[in-house]
Amino acid sequence: MTFEELKPKVTDILHHENTLIDDKLLQICHLLKDNIDYYDWVGYYFRNGEKEELILGPYAGEATDHTVIPFGKGICGQVAVSNENFVVPDVNAQDNYIACSITVKSEIVVPMFVNGKNIGQIDIDSNVLDAFNEADERFLEFVNENVAKLY
Ligand code: SME
Repeated sequence: MTFEELKPKVTDILHHENTLIDDKLLQICHLLKDNIDYYDWVGYYFRNGEKEELILGPYAGEATDHTVIPFGKGICGQVAVSNENFVVPDVNAQDNYIACSITVKSEIVVPMFVNGKNIGQIDIDSNVLDAFNEADERFLEFVNENVAKLY
């Protein structure tokens, strides 16, 4: 499915009434993982209150041991500090990287802002090398901007 086809499906999920936020996020994770062939793990990490650490939220894909990530550690922890998208074409070329699965070859992390504050991020792993480009960044920014309206 194309990003343009997925966008209304994302906003439909977000507009459901009587659905908990985490259930909406879980549905979005599955929507993306199931419909974009190179999205092999899709999940959310959120800042744990005022602590400088991220906590794993809803995700689709293999379970991970990395349910808590300190700021600065791994790709996710670096985005918590930089507030900028991080596209990693080859995870094996990164020093500051937390491996969740040996099959993962590339990764993208896009932060999410509420009132200018970075509250968390969407993290996507791919088993394909150099899987992500600017179209993924723009699409995931769209998803996060709409998810942020729930907070
Ligand atoms: N690879 C991430 C850790 C999270 S897993 O991909 C689910 C990182 O380096 O921060």
